[in-house]
Amino acid sequence: MLRRLHHDQPESFAFTPANQAWAEAQITKYPAGRQASAIIPLLWRAQEQEGWLTRPAIESVADMLDMAYMRALEVASFYFMFQLQPVGSVANIQICGTTSCMICGAEDLVAVCKDKIAAKPHTLSADGKFSWEEVECLGSCANAPMAQIGKDYYEDLTTERLAEIIDELAAGKVPTPGPQNGRYASEPKSGLTSLTEYSDDRLPQNASVALATEIGDTVKRIDGNEVPLVTPWQDRSDKKGDAKPGRGPEVAADHPVDDTGIDKREAPVKNKARPDTGAPAADAEAASGTGNSGEKPETLDAPRDGGADDLKMIKGVGPKLEKLLHKLGFFHFDQIAGWSAAELAWVDDNLEGFKGRATRDDWVGQAKVLASGGETEFAGRVKKGDVYDM
Ligand code: FES
Repeated sequence: MLRRLHHDQPESFAFTPANQAWAEAQITKYPAGRQASAIIPLLWRAQEQEGWLTRPAIESVADMLDMAYMRALEVASFYFMFQLQPVGSVANIQICGTTSCMICGAEDLVAVCKDKIAAKPHTLSADGKFSWEEVECLGSCANAPMAQIGKDYYEDLTTERLAEIIDELAAGKVPTPGPQNGRYASEPKSGLTSLTEYSDDRLPQNASVALATEIGDTVKRIDGNEVPLVTPWQDRSDKKGDAKPGRGPEVAADHPVDDTGIDKREAPVKNKARPDTGAPAADAEAASGTGNSGEKPETLDAPRDGGADDLKMIKGVGPKLEKLLHKLGFFHFDQIAGWSAAELAWVDDNLEGFKGRATRDDWVGQAKVLASGGETEFAGRVKKGDVYDM
């Protein structure tokens, strides 16, 4: 299948504040210069938020990871889990068409989709609520034929039952996932042949179905009201003081966060235009800084006569952050080496997409070594070309 960007694209993309915090946390999993490794989770999060991967979303993620847009598009277009065209507002129905399911009636299920949704896959239904596609084996072969709808599996399907499920979803209901023919799990259709003495002890539903029913987010799209669990290696205790350990920093303690980490009060950020780093307005904003913490250090309008130092020698400063530091007015190791604690806090607060990086990677300590003519282990690796393509 030819996978290309959709012809009709929105103007812009922005993660919701909660998703932005989650994405920034994912990036910290990887060492300096290897942020691109976060491409798949970030693209996936963008898709979970929007339903499909738009060009502005792909470019926004590429910007966050300091990647060429083409590299991000290569990933997005390679993996079929990424939807490059709009999907149904209620659900994109993924029919497994591999051997077991095909033998057990997948083609008939596809016919239902063609009849009730659209004649061709990856096409919206007339009311925009549904789309469908055929996918490869989803690992539920013992319950063939089956389909994934949203986050859950609907197994042991018949054409009649799939048609009913689509109708129920269209009516705003979420049919119970799992086997649709009365089977408990993947035991023989004729019933248990062993361990029959335990059959009375079973829960009303198998564990997967019970969990899916309890969570209840089968076709729920991330809408900006979620507070993702942040990565546990990040110490959030210094962020705004109120954040619960292990939760996003934007959430004050008095926010009603439930057991699943859902905060009902948080609103998405306004949809901002795709970053254009060459625009004078963007430069002006970066140069003045938008964060409020700490104290702005002294800055320069341009590097001194000898030219800017290679700030990428500092662990944690990649090409994108170096550009941002230049915009903020920092070109030399001795400038960074001289930051006070308050000034470091200001810088950290103005590293859009990388907040906290300067403290975490001890830029001041590294810059002191480099400004005095010394060399850190990381700078040695950069010089050898082990970190960046020189
Ligand atoms: S063949 Fe359909 S789930 Fe494996």
